[in-house]
Amino acid sequence: MTTTTDNNIAIHTLIENRWSPRAFSDESVGEEQLEALFDAARWAPSAMNEQPWRFIYAAKEDKAAFDRLSGLLVEGNSWAKNAAVLFVSIAKTAYDFNGSPNKHAWHDVGLATGNLLLQATDLGLHVHLMGGFDAAKAKKELGIPDGFEAVAMGAIGYVGDPETLPENLKARELATRQRKPLNEIAFKGEWKQK
Ligand SMILES: Cc1cc2nc3c(=O)[nH]c(=O)nc-3n(C[C@H](O)[C@H](O)[C@H](O)COP(=O)(O)O)c2cc1C
Repeated sequence: MTTTTDNNIAIHTLIENRWSPRAFSDESVGEEQLEALFDAARWAPSAMNEQPWRFIYAAKEDKAAFDRLSGLLVEGNSWAKNAAVLFVSIAKTAYDFNGSPNKHAWHDVGLATGNLLLQATDLGLHVHLMGGFDAAKAKKELGIPDGFEAVAMGAIGYVGDPETLPENLKARELATRQRKPLNEIAFKGEWKQK
């Protein structure tokens, strides 16, 4: 189904086809593809071109590193252990140029991650982002230095069979995706609810 705006302009297929699965296949993701994802992230815009994003990733084949990342997840995100690759996104919290707090660092990590998601979609991959992880543990166990904070985690891979999921997750996997209507999120000129 094509998603359109009220003007019938089609949403870009990369945006339309992106979604966050919980069932991932066993297929691994090549290092070249991973590089393309992080390269896409690199080209995001950022305040003062500070590029405050950093990423730590591990493929399942690198068992020790993958287990370290999967050990950060809350129990509700255990499904992500089946993904081929896990990553943590990280923000540099102060500006390089004067050391003052970068209020847009997390915003810009989100932009970079958005690029990564679209590039993944273009490569036939899916990414499921997660806020459900232990950021303090990540900082300690991954050697994230002072001045940097873990923002989110992501699971990358090829979509798997929803039948492999437990019932509750399967229901969520197959549910219709919901979005707020446009008039609830975009206002012309001033704040206005409908
Ligand atoms: C910052 C962030 C944190 C999220 N945390 C979780 C999470 O901990 N567990 C989870 O299953 N999904 C998580 N999600 C995925 C969202 O639930 C999902 O993107 C949303 O329901 C919309 O679905 P869609 O991505 O398929 O369009 C997170 C997404 C973002 C962007």
